[in-house]
Amino acid sequence: MADLKKNWGILGAGVIASKLAKGINQTDAAVLYAVGSRDVSKSQDFAREYGAEKAFGSYEELCQCPDIDVIYIATPHSFHKEHTMLALNNGKNVLCEKPFSLNLQDSEEMLSLAKSKGLFLMEAMWTCLLPGMKKLQELLSGGAIGQVLYMEADFGFQEPFDKNARLFNPQLGGGALLDVGIYPLTLATFLFGKPKKVTANARMGQSGVDELSCYNLEFENRVIANLSASIAVETSHSATIYGTEGTIHIPADWWLMEKLIITNGSKREIDTSYEGSEYTFEVQEVCDCLFNGQTESQTLPHDWTRGIMSLMDQIRADIGLVYPGEVLTEV
Ligand SMILES: NC(=O)c1ccc[n+]([C@@H]2O[C@H](COP(=O)([O-])OP(=O)(O)OC[C@H]3O[C@@H](n4cnc5c(N)ncnc54)[C@H](OP(=O)(O)O)[C@@H]3O)[C@@H](O)[C@H]2O)c1
Repeated sequence: MADLKKNWGILGAGVIASKLAKGINQTDAAVLYAVGSRDVSKSQDFAREYGAEKAFGSYEELCQCPDIDVIYIATPHSFHKEHTMLALNNGKNVLCEKPFSLNLQDSEEMLSLAKSKGLFLMEAMWTCLLPGMKKLQELLSGGAIGQVLYMEADFGFQEPFDKNARLFNPQLGGGALLDVGIYPLTLATFLFGKPKKVTANARMGQSGVDELSCYNLEFENRVIANLSASIAVETSHSATIYGTEGTIHIPADWWLMEKLIITNGSKREIDTSYEGSEYTFEVQEVCDCLFNGQTESQTLPHDWTRGIMSLMDQIRADIGLVYPGEVLTEV
């Protein structure tokens, strides 16, 4: 009988793992089969809450489980490489949370291991897979606002300082850039490609990571993007693209892509909302790729991940953000 569903395992039972578990449960092609935590009682609670058949007390046991088709890596950034390699070395396909790793060099090692093993690997940048992103691309390429000259987007929220928390702790890859700056950078590069020029500025906090960072990108077609990210102040959470004939505004929270407001002579709203969780789209994409025997997604290919990691390496070099034990190579 044909393999109709893919069995998922979740590695790390934290905040985003719970959200993805709901997304898996809302996707017909996926089954939440197992969860692995460093603490077996935590994985048992998680399995009970989200209906997983198996609960493991270590990541190793999860990755060794023969009945899992794909493992979702939901640990802090600084562990993405180690845990992705663990899953791949156990013959598992992988969906890895964003940022894919701390730097491009680590990403290259992960991608090369997946390639040598013939396994599927994708970065969990779900925003790119939403219907609203496709609609936005269609509008821009169809000239709905003329020639695009400028865009702005931000992702900033105010988090109380805690030197041990994931967002502030350098050991866990803390800072605004890798956590949320990646979203506006993704929007700009997904729409306009690889920037030819990048400058950045940051306010570094007391734990040594960027609590606020701003990025100015210039693209081949001379589009300029002004982007920002923060874990110290709340920002607008909106994005706007400006063309010679009008604008497209994506209201808060823009990364959910639920509505596009286009002003080009008149003003109209395009409803791009969807049923259920925003995470179902990435779950569906992974399942589709696995059913089709693909080892990378066409929407979020390995080269896309390389591009965004290289861009963040450049920004980090500009703002002087180096993580413990890391040597940043020339980009
Ligand atoms: N795509 C999105 O929308 C989205 C949203 C939020 C976060 N994320 C990404 O998801 C990743 C996890 O974020 P989160 O907010 O879910 O984090 P979190 O709640 O802190 O959970 C991370 C989990 O990782 C495991 N872990 C392993 N080693 C750890 C260590 N030394 N310290 C802390 N946790 C450790 C823990 O699971 P066990 O205790 O069960 O082993 C923990 O629950 C990050 O890379 C983040 O960028 C993505």
